[in-house]
Amino acid sequence: MRILVIGQGAREHAIVRSLAQGGEHELHAAPGNPGIAALATLHEVEATDGAAVAALAAEVGAELVVVGPEAPLVAGVADAVRAAGIACFGPSAEGAALEGSKAFAKEVMAAAAVPTAMAHVCTTETELVEALDAFGAPYVVKDDGLAAGKGVVVTSDRAAALAHGLACLDRRSQSGERPAVVVEEYLDGPEVSLFCVCDGQTVVPLAPAQDFKRALDGDEGPNTGGMGAYSPLTWAPADLVEQVMTRVAQPTVDEMRRRGTPFAGVLYCGLALTSRGVRVVEFNARFGDPETQVVLARLVTPLSEVLMAAATGELDTLPPLRWRDDAAVTVVVAAHGYPGTVRAGDEIEGVADADALADVHVLHAGTARNGEGTLVSAGGRVLSVVGVGADVDAARERAYAGVEAIALRGSHHRTDIAARMPEPIAADDATAETDDPEDDIHSAMLSTEDLR
Ligand code: AMP
Ligand code: GLY
Repeated sequence: MRILVIGQGAREHAIVRSLAQGGEHELHAAPGNPGIAALATLHEVEATDGAAVAALAAEVGAELVVVGPEAPLVAGVADAVRAAGIACFGPSAEGAALEGSKAFAKEVMAAAAVPTAMAHVCTTETELVEALDAFGAPYVVKDDGLAAGKGVVVTSDRAAALAHGLACLDRRSQSGERPAVVVEEYLDGPEVSLFCVCDGQTVVPLAPAQDFKRALDGDEGPNTGGMGAYSPLTWAPADLVEQVMTRVAQPTVDEMRRRGTPFAGVLYCGLALTSRGVRVVEFNARFGDPETQVVLARLVTPLSEVLMAAATGELDTLPPLRWRDDAAVTVVVAAHGYPGTVRAGDEIEGVADADALADVHVLHAGTARNGEGTLVSAGGRVLSVVGVGADVDAARERAYAGVEAIALRGSHHRTDIAARMPEPIAADDATAETDDPEDDIHSAMLSTEDLR
């Protein structure tokens, strides 16, 4: 198959690597990165320009286009590709609004009775202050738009919560958008990511993974796009996937179809396993980064078959997915300054050495070749080093062996990815309902009220 992958991160490198290992394909990527260049022909394209992506897909004769990042999806790139008669893996702009607008996601969840945090959408400072006081600490304040995982502040410091909320309102007013900031109930409990592949109707879950969002060891420091991940989750309730399928993913896909805007692509369910049951923290409309790096390292079924079936509405005919028993761990090597202002142009050494280690592979994210052809840093998250092993500890040891082989001036990485697991949760524990069966519906309804 001829496949064009849009994007340039480690997630897209993982997708291209997985496609390359799963069959005889002609692979193209745009814009891609130096790691992807070893597996696919690279093309330049403005990734958020639907007409340009569709034209490129036609030019290379792509039978399938896979859109990795959220920005092109929210901009309607998948719609443009489909309009050109080419199969595309990725939701429409309307579907991607599940990620692009937290307020819209809350509205859909309310309509589909999907359990999530109670939320207020505030449009003025007065509303913001009222919402902060109504929920109390810890405060959760979210920018109502795309912010690369950095638009959320969770803090017990009321002044910091208020300052972030005001900054979100201000940023949106300045950019001419409707000012909106979401304040919501704090969800306790471990977080998991479950990617559900959808074709508008049928939903196929992948393996759950856990992401480490904070910049520093011990879950300290600011939120980032993700500093590492692992899969499988040996501590998670045995019926986690089933619960998410029946209570979250399928109802959401059904609701989107009922609205006449079917969702096809990855419905990324970001979940908190709270003492009161599973709650949606957020939806994304694409594969997660860095979780994809570990999930695809474990997938045995050829990825092209999964993505093509989703893109053509044939997921119901796909045989059950096959998985390796092995575990996978990925550690992100980040540039000096990430997640703040990063420094670019630092030389990266040792990637080939790390790649040559047994059960280690290196995925590129923010890398580039300079004028001399030397590999240099060119973004916040520079590399995603993946280790595979019989269990999470073995995989973790491999991932860190890979990281140790790499040298990048001023870089940082977390040293505790997959080092500590949450306490095991029984199937009838985190996923159990509270005594009041109305509880979830109630919280969902409250958010609808607030959206009016
Ligand atoms: P989001 O962009 O919505 O995924 O939020 C980024 C991160 O902020 C999440 O992964 C959580 O760690 C944290 N977070 C978001 N919402 C909540 C919440 N309601 N309660 C606790 N933590 C949250
Ligand atoms: N790993 C978080 C994200 O992809 O949004």
